[in-house]
Amino acid sequence: MKSFGIPEDIHSYVVERSNPAADAVAENLAQASRDRFGDRAGMNIGDDQGRFMEMFAAAMGATTIVEVGTFTGMSALWLARGLTPGGRMICFDLVDTYAETATEAWQAAGVADRIEMRFGPAAEGLALLPDEPHIDLAFVDADKTGYRSYLDLLLPRLRDNGVVLVDNVLWSGRVLDTADDSTDTVALREFNDHVARRGDCDAVILTIGDGLTMIRPRR
Ligand SMILES: C[S@@+](CC[C@H](N)C(=O)[O-])C[C@H]1O[C@@H](n2cnc3c(N)ncnc32)[C@H](O)[C@@H]1O
Repeated sequence: MKSFGIPEDIHSYVVERSNPAADAVAENLAQASRDRFGDRAGMNIGDDQGRFMEMFAAAMGATTIVEVGTFTGMSALWLARGLTPGGRMICFDLVDTYAETATEAWQAAGVADRIEMRFGPAAEGLALLPDEPHIDLAFVDADKTGYRSYLDLLLPRLRDNGVVLVDNVLWSGRVLDTADDSTDTVALREFNDHVARRGDCDAVILTIGDGLTMIRPRR
């Protein structure tokens, strides 16, 4: 299920009434992810979320995008398409296991030359980025226990009116299940509570995909 809480037929209707309705590169990438990595392919974002993020990046005129958690490159594919011409994207992932699949799709879409992959723990990679504000848009979709530190590393590096998008914040509804005390559920519940309490950011949760929080620093 690509949109938690939305019936399959409504989700299909939404995707089919998008324009353009189909995307061959994204479809091929989703298939390659399933063929090569089985159930892990469920980590790819859906087309509706991808289209939204592409349009959002383009509308804000993003020239620098950072992604935390790239897997086979689905979200990066959509985000890179939204970059302003000449723009750049840096993608962090712990492992290089999925990079070949990602690069194939990025090449097919003609965006590979805009994307740089960096491997290793994302917190270490983010800490090495320039300290000054230079990021227009960031997308966080990696280990859930790291979300809070990723946000803290990204916020000071955002340009004015920059935005951090954070994925899976509804966790298929498990954030509401107080009986669920698994590590990731607790981390996401605490992250959502933390964001809602922060005095230095505006935030809104979109009910697209598995829940996507948009966070913008108040300056
Ligand atoms: C949910 S998947 C990302 C899906 C991707 N955004 C997409 O739409 O296809 C999460 C990814 O985060 C990576 N990851 C997990 N822990 C990490 C860490 N500490 N630093 C960087 N990446 C990490 C995993 O290797 C995995 O590829």
